[in-house]
Amino acid sequence: KTRPMEYRMAQLEALGRFLDDKKQEILEATELDMGKPSFEAFFSEILLCKNELNMTLNNLCHWMKDEYVDKNLVMQLDSAFIRKDPYGVVLIIAPWNYPIHLFLVPLIGAIAAGNCAIIKPSEISKNTERLIAETLSCYLDSDCFAVVTGGVPETTRLLENKFDYIFFTGSPPVGRIVMTAAAKHLTPVTLELGGKNPCYVSDTCNVANVARRVVWGRFFNAGQTCIAPDYVLCTVEMQDKLMPALREAITEFFGPNPRESPDFGRIVSDKQFRRIRALLGSGRVAIGGQTDEAERYIAPTVLADVLPSDPAMQEEIFGPILPIVVIANMDEAIDFINARPQPLVVYAFSCDSKVVNQVLERTSSGGFCGNDTLMHVTLTSLPFGGIGNSGLGKYHGKFTFDTFSHHRGCLHRNMGLETLNTPRYPPYTQQKLGLLTTTFEVKRRGTCTLL
Ligand SMILES: *[C@@H]1O[C@H](CO)[C@@H](O)[C@H](O)[C@H]1NC(C)=O
Ligand SMILES: *[C@@H]1O[C@H](CO)[C@@H](O)[C@H](O)[C@H]1NC(C)=O
Repeated sequence: KTRPMEYRMAQLEALGRFLDDKKQEILEATELDMGKPSFEAFFSEILLCKNELNMTLNNLCHWMKDEYVDKNLVMQLDSAFIRKDPYGVVLIIAPWNYPIHLFLVPLIGAIAAGNCAIIKPSEISKNTERLIAETLSCYLDSDCFAVVTGGVPETTRLLENKFDYIFFTGSPPVGRIVMTAAAKHLTPVTLELGGKNPCYVSDTCNVANVARRVVWGRFFNAGQTCIAPDYVLCTVEMQDKLMPALREAITEFFGPNPRESPDFGRIVSDKQFRRIRALLGSGRVAIGGQTDEAERYIAPTVLADVLPSDPAMQEEIFGPILPIVVIANMDEAIDFINARPQPLVVYAFSCDSKVVNQVLERTSSGGFCGNDTLMHVTLTSLPFGGIGNSGLGKYHGKFTFDTFSHHRGCLHRNMGLETLNTPRYPPYTQQKLGLLTTTFEVKRRGTCTLL
């Protein structure tokens, strides 16, 4: 039922109507869940999802087409192609920080590729969970798409079922649990995990611009973003120059008292609030540091002179705290990054593009963004995903379609011309082997050269 292109397009159009009709409810639910400013919710939960939808609807007929491939001499009259088959029933497990975006963007690709899907929203963003559970079924075909709600026990039971693909977004520890459950059924997985994203700031850069771009990326959604710059690496001289610029950017964005700003979010839960608050005892509080448990408010905070052994450097912060770790130079920054698990993104700022390129070349991470933060994920033409501890697999744009498609290698042969086949049949002879070699061999043409 989910295979015809018309069916897929109709379900995708319905997702578009869901976003249009429920826009206000989405903004209200994410505001209730984590005080998400409506501007941020509109941008991340609605606009980026609609871009993915439009892009998918615009290109689906091309993506679905069989891809014809090169053939060898014996098969010149045959057709060899890659068929994009749906996996079957996919499970999408979404987290609470971008509760619409992080289930919808994978779902768009799952539908586009012709799959059925079970969606498991996070129980922590409970207002958004309720909205999804109560309204999504009014838009999608309930024969093929369902929402399952619940916490750890329900998810554990859900994972006992055999799915054909599991797409998980969350933390590395839960990622291991999901992958273990998937292994029982040999189910393929995509794991979108997190980690600590380093942000190297070189001594030569426009300090005011760096500060604005880092402050925006760190404090968007009150820091609850898997691709946020997690900590800054710079020299002690740069820390001195950066601090007033960071203070100015924070004041420019959120006013003298960020608690009263409508543009600064709150922490999603009491548990998360306490975890993040405990990280404030790292280094020295240079900016911010105020908290209010009743509101789950943590001020935009910058910690100076943080040591690698401090609590803030032991886990992904996932909150509005920016530690600065002082290093001596770029080589030391690169060594610092390489001594730790591969992050989801590496950020590097410099007025010298050679410095940015050095950081790119000598480190490994899911993605990379030079001279800015977060912006690389807004391009549907770039694959998004982690490596090592930050995850496996990739999505966004066509990459989501490919993730949810089995690339089935197909060959349709001609039934005639049997003489062309005789060299491979017994009785084997030296002459047949020679013929076989000339028709099958791939010739070495020398190193590829750029024209
Ligand atoms: C998607 O396409 C529709 C129809 O052309 C258009 O109105 C809309 O602005 C496009 N983009 C987004 C983000 O909705
Ligand atoms: C970073 O920005 C600076 C200043 O605009 C520019 O000179 C440099 O080339 C940029 N780096 C990269 C890698 O684009």
